[in-house]
Amino acid sequence: MSARSTIVRAGFVAFTLAASCSSNESAGPTERSSTTSLPCDVDDVLERNCRSCHSSPPKFGAPVALVSADDLAAPSKSDPSKSVATRVGERIHDPVAPMPQGAKLSAADMATLDTWIAGGAKAIQGTCADAGSIADAGPVGPDFLPCPEEERTTFLAHGDTLADPYPLAADAGNLYMCFSWKAPWSGTHQATAFAPVIDDARAVHHWILYETATPQIDGGAKKCAMPFDAKFLQGWAPGGTNRVLPDDIGLALPSSDRWLILQVHYWNVAGYTDVRDRSGVAMCTTSNLRPKTAVVSTLGSANIDLPPRSTGTVVTGRCTPAITEPIHVLASGPHMHGRGRRLRTQVLRGGSESAIETLVDEPSFDFESQRSYPSSLVVQPGDVLRTECTYDNPTETRVTFGEKTEDEMCFNFVTVWPAPGLFNEGGRATQRCIDR
Ligand code: HEC
Repeated sequence: MSARSTIVRAGFVAFTLAASCSSNESAGPTERSSTTSLPCDVDDVLERNCRSCHSSPPKFGAPVALVSADDLAAPSKSDPSKSVATRVGERIHDPVAPMPQGAKLSAADMATLDTWIAGGAKAIQGTCADAGSIADAGPVGPDFLPCPEEERTTFLAHGDTLADPYPLAADAGNLYMCFSWKAPWSGTHQATAFAPVIDDARAVHHWILYETATPQIDGGAKKCAMPFDAKFLQGWAPGGTNRVLPDDIGLALPSSDRWLILQVHYWNVAGYTDVRDRSGVAMCTTSNLRPKTAVVSTLGSANIDLPPRSTGTVVTGRCTPAITEPIHVLASGPHMHGRGRRLRTQVLRGGSESAIETLVDEPSFDFESQRSYPSSLVVQPGDVLRTECTYDNPTETRVTFGEKTEDEMCFNFVTVWPAPGLFNEGGRATQRCIDR
């Protein structure tokens, strides 16, 4: 029972964090229409930096809410001739009384607000999802998927038979278990929404669902040895929510000659003796294909070598995509391990250092709360994507690339359309775009 109540609480937290993009309405994903919202990137900056005080209603002496598009368009309290948005632009640069109080916005967050305010602080029609991003959709869990039971496919951690929960040993410590299945879909299928199933939150650290062409045991359960071609499909880490794709886009699912691997990272450091886990993923799937197919492409680098006792080491991975048409990015999912501090992916328009746009900048990466960032960026032929991962390695040992906790990674898993997404020479089959 304790596991269950933890799920509910975790779900609630995730929902409050994710309520962002449709702030003043509680309608489900199918009911958004004539609302206006803050653009997702602006909403995200306010959510992360301001709403601990500027909530609705505001707290801790803050005079105004910074939650809905209407809040930002309203006249400010201190000077009603100026909108709240204008005051936001002033206060984030105020040398005497900067906002947020006692902290400083990152340059990237500041730029997001500045750009929006300079452009007239306009609201968008509808919500993030309507604007073409993958919305974080709350509340969390399979019960809230926007499809009937018969259109769902679920993959859960298991023991000897698929029906048994996975019995985690008390001394398992830090364990990556890989549960595998033959892809169950005959004919082409798409996923349209995902929900995490978090059964025993005491020991589940995160999970990632991969697809691979390397044969696996159907119904297998073993310690992970990830095949090199394994491709990220979807992931969950604490804070993660349901994901709902825009109405006209479906994420390509593997055909029946491929396999799925659910990698669950268990962390039984407290040595619980009674963990019997059935965590995993539930998704809405359809063979009634939506017009646009999305895929997940991988950016970043496997070329990691962090000296002992080093700080601020930057690993840079470049991607020169072999594309002839524009590729739309729906979301970015930065992924590093415990030594990762920052991950940033920038687009060099036409390959030029003087025409740079930021796809994602996670200035204080936290392994414990990984998430994905909605985007509406479009990659054009000729553009180069540069992903930079910054690490601190306080240990006495060299750290290199690998999937174990003590190794490091530098990946940005980007959900993009149309298929086959972003890839370079040699990366077409795995949808990787990592230049040599
Ligand atoms: C720790 C609480 C806290 C956080 C976090 C915080 N604020 Fe404030 N904010 C206040 C308080 C208290 C006031 C009123 C006192 C003042 O004006 O300094 C205020 C006032 C303001 C005002 C003035 C409103 C007016 O009518 O002129 C603006 C604009 C503002 N904050 C913007 C922001 C923005 C933007 C962020 C995030 C980037 C932020 N604040 C983060 C507490 C906070």
